[in-house]
Amino acid sequence: MTSDATLYDRDRKSVSALQKLRFFPLALRGGDGRYVIDDSDRRLLDLSGAWGAASLGYGHPAIRQSVDSALQSQAGASILSSTNAPAVMLAERLLQIVPGSGERRVWLGHSGSDANETVARAVVAATGRNRILAFTGAYHGGTQGSMAISGHSAQEGVAKSGGLTLVPYPNPYRPYEGDPNGNALLVHIETLLETSCPGEEVAAFFIEPIQADGGLIVPPAGFLRKLAKLCARYEILTVCDEVKVGLARPGKMNCFEWEDFTPDIVVLGKGLGGGLPISAVIGPAEIMNVTVSFSMQTLHGNPVCASAALAVLDTIQRENLITQAAETGDYLIKTFKSVQSGQPVIGDVRGRGLAIGIELVLNDAKTPATDLTRKVVYRAWELGAVFYYVGMQSNVLELTPPLTLTREEADKGTEIILRSIEDAIAGNVSDEAVAEFTGW
Ligand SMILES: Cc1ncc(COP(=O)(O)O)c(C=O)c1O
Repeated sequence: MTSDATLYDRDRKSVSALQKLRFFPLALRGGDGRYVIDDSDRRLLDLSGAWGAASLGYGHPAIRQSVDSALQSQAGASILSSTNAPAVMLAERLLQIVPGSGERRVWLGHSGSDANETVARAVVAATGRNRILAFTGAYHGGTQGSMAISGHSAQEGVAKSGGLTLVPYPNPYRPYEGDPNGNALLVHIETLLETSCPGEEVAAFFIEPIQADGGLIVPPAGFLRKLAKLCARYEILTVCDEVKVGLARPGKMNCFEWEDFTPDIVVLGKGLGGGLPISAVIGPAEIMNVTVSFSMQTLHGNPVCASAALAVLDTIQRENLITQAAETGDYLIKTFKSVQSGQPVIGDVRGRGLAIGIELVLNDAKTPATDLTRKVVYRAWELGAVFYYVGMQSNVLELTPPLTLTREEADKGTEIILRSIEDAIAGNVSDEAVAEFTGW
């Protein structure tokens, strides 16, 4: 079809809205390093990294080479009825990278959603316990089973698992019962386990070590370690959903290392494939081997995607990306904190490594600046940077750029973000411009 219509217009007329989460009319024809290239050849700095999936940026030579080599003589397409070397090597590597004790096994999937759904089913099947605990604001996926154990406002109205109990996430900026250390919340959880949600009936507690889509919330130091201890008392499995904030992004290989506790089960996705679809669950053999043919999709364990993941893991080590993410992230967080007093709309700056949240508020009462946030990301797109917002009130700018982001790119991104905030406050983005882009 040849037409004068823009790529974005053609998308409007051909692609279903069901899977759209749009903030501005971004239409891409390519990508290169930390930049995406739009259909008018504009290069935009990608501070979202495709929601964290483009861990090495775009077109990284290690991924290209690894994928190309896997396709030269493709070892099947799946792990269901045969095995293949990239999938096995990936499982072996993940067992080394993710700490844990005893016999463990790795399950390979396509997405964070199918991985969390698999865990939610497997822990119930293996323990015979029907209850699951998770946090309000948690986003564990977009399939029925992963939504059923999530607590994000974007999924309001979706059927929840009958055994699900949600508890508030420890948020030092908006603390539960005024206690920024989270101790009041721990007491609340312990009370639940002794009363309406008996601990001995709970199979697992799903934990995001930083609550990402709920607002890039960093829990107070020590909270997760204490929570894990509480869970252990009732033999409740801790499931750490590292899909968005794991694998070097937080300035450590695993985000839970910040908290010095070892979860029973770890879920990886997004950045694992560096832009190709692959996810993984690492957990105790008695859970991961509870039965056969329990959670499988035809292309699970695909050797091409597994090869991409191996290239990502190699590159994280070879290019020292854990340190780079830690240093660039620290630098960005310090920069934003340093301008906070001159820009009162920036209520809070938080994060670990290259998982950063900037919460925008209207006043000292911390009223969420939802409309302004929408306009800030739109203005940034006009000025040449891509990032989105998260949070139950849609007022937190989220930065999850490629781990390879340089200091100069961080400076450029900061400049665009600050100018976008100023421009949006000055009224330079009209309501009509953003009307179509409802985000979430
Ligand atoms: C913490 C977390 N878990 C799971 C998911 C779902 O991953 P996917 O969209 O790749 O299925 C997401 C996606 O945003 C996430 O942030």
